[in-house]
Amino acid sequence: MYPVAVQGEHIRLREFTGDDVDALHRVYGDPEATRHLSFEPRSRDQVAKLVTDTIRRAQETPRTEYALAVARNDNGELIGMARLALGEHRSGQIGFALRSDQWGRGFGTETVRLLLELGFRYLGLHRIWGARSPLNTDSEQVMVKVGMVEEGRIRDHVYVRGAWRDSITHAILEHEWQHAPRP
Ligand SMILES: CC(C)(COP(=O)(O)OP(=O)(O)OC[C@H]1O[C@@H](n2cnc3c(N)ncnc32)[C@H](O)[C@@H]1OP(=O)(O)O)[C@@H](O)C(=O)NCCC(=O)NCCS
Repeated sequence: MYPVAVQGEHIRLREFTGDDVDALHRVYGDPEATRHLSFEPRSRDQVAKLVTDTIRRAQETPRTEYALAVARNDNGELIGMARLALGEHRSGQIGFALRSDQWGRGFGTETVRLLLELGFRYLGLHRIWGARSPLNTDSEQVMVKVGMVEEGRIRDHVYVRGAWRDSITHAILEHEWQHAPRP
């Protein structure tokens, strides 16, 4: 499915364009926003390559990755990245990151709700899961709030900042999403 746009009350998910590099670099180049992620802060050149690769992969058939820009509805500004990667057996894995000056306003929760809507409503998935650092309580709160149940720990899941790190996984199934209360 291309192009994709998922409209929310305060934000929307949309496809990346070549003009998004600087705005995304304000997220992925920031040590605060990437503290719990599986990679270290990225240079502008690395983000430029990531945007180019993302735009190319978005147009592949079949499409297996939905890496989308998170943009505010009121001013159109790109404030983050939301990703849904398709796996086998109608599953999908999510990832998300917002610019740190935008945290605490409900945008993270809305971002994950929109990813679930994309996965379940538009792509017909059965199961959507996410993996977070054990120390990432912001991510934990967001995933729990949208109904993603904590399932367990993947030991030594990622090698980052010179050490192995475990991940805690959360997931939600299609019938749980259908019956989850809507905001
Ligand atoms: C995780 C992340 C996306 C959360 O984003 P966020 O926008 O801060 O999330 P929300 O605002 O929806 O929710 C966070 C808190 O803000 C609160 N909040 C919601 N609306 C609010 C508002 N209008 N004003 C103030 N606080 C608000 C929420 O209640 C929640 O707090 P609580 O659960 O303790 O009650 C963000 O911290 C981030 O990008 N982190 C770096 C990348 C990352 O770790 N990604 C996850 C990888 S697994």
